[in-house]
Amino acid sequence: MANIAIFASGTGTNAAKIMEYFRDNPNIKVCLVVSNKENAPVLGLAQRNGIEPMVLSRAAFYETETMLDELKVREIDFIVLAGFLWLIPPYLVRAFEGKMVNIHPALLPKYGGKGMYGMNVHRAVKAAGDAETGITIHYVNERFDEGDAVFQARCVVDPNDSPEDIAHKVQKLEHKHFAPVIERLLAMPDHQQNNPSNHKK
Ligand code: GRF
Repeated sequence: MANIAIFASGTGTNAAKIMEYFRDNPNIKVCLVVSNKENAPVLGLAQRNGIEPMVLSRAAFYETETMLDELKVREIDFIVLAGFLWLIPPYLVRAFEGKMVNIHPALLPKYGGKGMYGMNVHRAVKAAGDAETGITIHYVNERFDEGDAVFQARCVVDPNDSPEDIAHKVQKLEHKHFAPVIERLLAMPDHQQNNPSNHKK
């Protein structure tokens, strides 16, 4: 049995897809949804799905390691960042090396880093006139969007696509691929999970 914690700051449409995908899975369970925002819709979503919601304070997250204890008590094996906007502190990166992934709404290394989230990413893609964009699922390290990529999927950007059109295309890719990629990573033996060359697409 693998226990997943989802960290999310916002709406949680990806979190919703992941909850739905694993709902009847006998081996993989979403146990916990953590948010840095007390009123984040993703917390209500967790509750409605019978999943424990948890609010994280900045002080507890960065100045103590209590988050690690919370995860250990719940026997969490894998962390999924789905729109979580805070940088992950080193103690948590170390404890979940090769067992924590993020999804980014662009083809990293393009359009990553601090401030590159949400519509900022899609506006930048539009402004650059790129002919394609997509999603990247990557392991998490101590810097924003720089961990090893494990999966990318692409979509075409038409010259007359607005940033909103681009966002829509990218979100479709996220909703289609994120949960199955998590499932594939969890099916790999531990030693393979830590070796990105084993699952690059
Ligand atoms: C997604 O676009 C994801 O790529 C990014 O944050 C967004 C979260 O959206 N990391 P949602 O809350 O899952 O709808």
